[in-house]
Amino acid sequence: MIKRLLLFFLILICSLFAVDAIVLPCVTENIKKEGKEIYNRDCYACHRWNRDFAGPAMSENIKKYVTQKEDLVRYLVHPTPKQPDKYPPMTLDPLSKKDAQVISAWLFYLLENPKDPERPR
Ligand code: HEC
Repeated sequence: MIKRLLLFFLILICSLFAVDAIVLPCVTENIKKEGKEIYNRDCYACHRWNRDFAGPAMSENIKKYVTQKEDLVRYLVHPTPKQPDKYPPMTLDPLSKKDAQVISAWLFYLLENPKDPERPR
């Protein structure tokens, strides 16, 4: 009986983590293409790569998340105020979790490959 109960809780806990797990996709040619499309549609209006614009410079934004990459996906799905003294909160057309994963993977790739000709300005 106890064993069954333990098994039940083990499965419950595993499934809780599984729901929240965020995995960034590998950066394939397709992800690069999709990432660029999302960026041009949803980000370029306010961000430039190397300088502050309506929002802070994208390269600096991404650097903040290199040690906790999943947090970028969480932020993009639910933006919360970050630098209220300098900027208004980011307003973004709701991004699906999948699009947030794609754009995040591509942005981290660009941070490591800033000479990629597809990198936005
Ligand atoms: C309407 C303008 C606007 C659009 C569109 C926009 N942003 Fe932002 N972004 C901002 C502003 C303003 C801030 C600063 C928010 C703050 O400090 O709370 C910001 C901040 C950020 C940050 C930094 C968060 C942090 O931890 O400091 C990231 C990352 C980011 N944006 C990514 C994106 C991505 C990716 C997209 C496209 C999917 C996007 N933004 C679209 C205006 C925008």
